[in-house]
Amino acid sequence: MDYLKLSGPTPLSGSIKISGAKNASLPLIAMTILAKNRVVINNLPNVADIKTLIKLLSNLGSSCEFGDHSIAIDTSGINQTKANYDIVKTMRASILVLGPILARFGHCEVSLPGGCAIGQRPIDLHLKALEHMGAKIDIEAGYVQATAPDGLKGCEIVFDKITVTGTANIVMAAALAHGTTTIINAAREPEVVQLCEVLNSSGVHIEGIGTPVLKITGRAGQLVEIAPFEVIPDRIEGGTYLCAGAITNSELTITGARADHLGAVLAKLEDMGCRFTIKGDSITLHPTHELKAVNIITQEYPAFPTDMQAQFLALATQAKGTSIIEERLFENRFMHVSELKRMGANITLNGNVATVNGKCHLSGTDVMATDLRASSALVLAALVAEGETNVHRIYHLDRGYEGLEKKLADVGASVERLKE
Ligand code: UD1
Repeated sequence: MDYLKLSGPTPLSGSIKISGAKNASLPLIAMTILAKNRVVINNLPNVADIKTLIKLLSNLGSSCEFGDHSIAIDTSGINQTKANYDIVKTMRASILVLGPILARFGHCEVSLPGGCAIGQRPIDLHLKALEHMGAKIDIEAGYVQATAPDGLKGCEIVFDKITVTGTANIVMAAALAHGTTTIINAAREPEVVQLCEVLNSSGVHIEGIGTPVLKITGRAGQLVEIAPFEVIPDRIEGGTYLCAGAITNSELTITGARADHLGAVLAKLEDMGCRFTIKGDSITLHPTHELKAVNIITQEYPAFPTDMQAQFLALATQAKGTSIIEERLFENRFMHVSELKRMGANITLNGNVATVNGKCHLSGTDVMATDLRASSALVLAALVAEGETNVHRIYHLDRGYEGLEKKLADVGASVERLKE
């Protein structure tokens, strides 16, 4: 197993190129199941989760050809419709194949993802919506067994809660359904918007893109033709590196980014005293000598993303005063707190609210990554901690950050990847 050894504190300077968004790429890869042609996806991030989904598609019979940050996927050879436990257990987002496989083949079996470190994360809303569309759903031996022999039918779906992968799954199912599907309380995340835009330009008429009400006109089983496209930049990776600049009091630029996707994150960094210069696809963070405490509530887009909560918690340890961070999306997404406390952070956890009293002196030690974004919070803390920090179990980090240690080392961090 690999771990990261960081020595701090070190100032950073320069610029970091942001990779394509993992969370946009996953539904876009699943979407190729709806295509009659070989689909080329560019600006694909080189991260473990993408490889996992490609492996799943290959196991089903697709042919996948990797290029440099691109892939060509031909799903015409799919001869299986079962997503096995072995793969689904390693990545919950594998559930994204359910909608498109069911819509195209009329049947699909997907292992139930089960809970995960940050919470239970049920898929009941995905299943209920597919049932509304006429699917018969059974749970047997740990698998969701879905059938729709006469195809899926358009209907009105009201999501009780906003669900990102749930919305993506139903958009893909609706694309091949008979009639029109209206999704009420749909997710508005940029990753969902891109999925809708690509499908819309491939012949699936979708109204209301980027709003909570999506109206999808189904193609009654007719597959789509998808032209090559480029994945949007990863706003969470971008936000993480901006936090790296802020926490080390360094002027840092991210390039290949979309400031319009980072609204809530930039606003909170501004509340803390940072300033920005935005030019085209580059964002330069101008740090502040004294970070101010901040109050954050995680919510669905366009509000502050839960995927940036851990990084801001690390940042709050270096802010003067009391910061209050409330997690509203996942019930157990504070596992980084105990590790940050071991580094010297003064954090009190009360249910889903963390109170951080700063500024804290952090010292390097051995810490354990517990999930993807928690890992990046530990790396951020290590950049300002006195001495050496070893971040273990970085396979979590590799799921979603491409070449993190290289990107950070290129701007001056002292970081290396070692074997346990
Ligand atoms: C996606 C992102 C993840 C991000 C999360 C919230 C991907 C691959 N992952 O995860 O990085 O942290 O959005 O922005 O894009 N829920 C239910 N029933 C369901 C579905 C969801 O109760 O059927 C609940 C969840 O437990 C959670 C909330 O709804 O409390 C939001 O979850 P959801 O938006 O579905 O998260 P994911 O799509 O899994």
